[in-house]
Amino acid sequence: MKKKKPLYEGKAKVIFDGPEAHTLVQYFKDDATAFNAQKKDVITGKGILNNYISEHIMLAARELGIPNHFISRVNDREQLVRKLEIIPVEVVVRNVAAGSICPRLGIEEGTMLNNTLVEFCLKNDSLGDPIIAPEHIFTFGWATPDELEIIVEDTLRINDFLTGLFLGIGVRLIDFKLEFGRYWTDGAVEIMLADEISPDNCRLWDAKTNEKMDKDRFRRDLGGLLEAYKEIARRLGVKIPQVN
Ligand code: ADP
Ligand code: TMP
Ligand code: ASP
Repeated sequence: MKKKKPLYEGKAKVIFDGPEAHTLVQYFKDDATAFNAQKKDVITGKGILNNYISEHIMLAARELGIPNHFISRVNDREQLVRKLEIIPVEVVVRNVAAGSICPRLGIEEGTMLNNTLVEFCLKNDSLGDPIIAPEHIFTFGWATPDELEIIVEDTLRINDFLTGLFLGIGVRLIDFKLEFGRYWTDGAVEIMLADEISPDNCRLWDAKTNEKMDKDRFRRDLGGLLEAYKEIARRLGVKIPQVN
């Protein structure tokens, strides 16, 4: 695919204009960041693994009728997606307490939650992605109540689907983050899942050992990130080209 000028460079991906109207190309970088990019490194091959793993999950979600932006994988690093108007709200789903909720609410890591918890954060790095309530989303017009209803409904379906997918390969889905956007065509609008689903934005623990198989390996300086991501790909049956 002919290279165009980047439209946007984020922490983990670069976005290019796509070949047709209403399309974009997502290029998966090897950059690893945490704590709103205060911690940074380059982990050679991470972008390739996330590209293939996210493709696998988006395609499986599509099979279940969960609308998402994925069109096709272009090569090891790039995928063609539908161009969405991103809703600036990160939707965080928690099944087990880990990460930021533990110090925030004084909960011990690993505590099973009585029910699935859906949290919203404003997607704004300079403010540190602050947690917000649905009322903030409506007050500031980030999404309407009807849109949020669709987002939460899709999110809970994605959680059920992902929980089963990962349990089937001996992995516990602890938590994850989703982004949604509006797909505008001919005056009609549809809410769709955007961005990526990969070990960068999920917490995944081995079901037998509780070993971390996600970006916490980087966040917490545990090492072995690439090996963990490769193991997730292997168990999912995702064929990855030689990485490293
Ligand atoms: P960040 O912007 O948080 O640093 P990335 O490096 O992953 O994140 O960059 C990808 C960017 O592309 C994100 O800002 C995300 O909201 C945006 N994005 C993801 N999917 C789409 C899409 N289908 N249409 C438009 N923007 C998208
Ligand atoms: P947290 O415990 O740090 O709030 O993260 C919850 C989940 O969301 C975890 O799986 C990591 C993911 N996440 C992102 O993908 N991007 C982010 O910017 C943040 C803060 C979390
Ligand atoms: N995605 C955020 C960052 O890159 C936070 C995180 O994932 O820990 O800084």
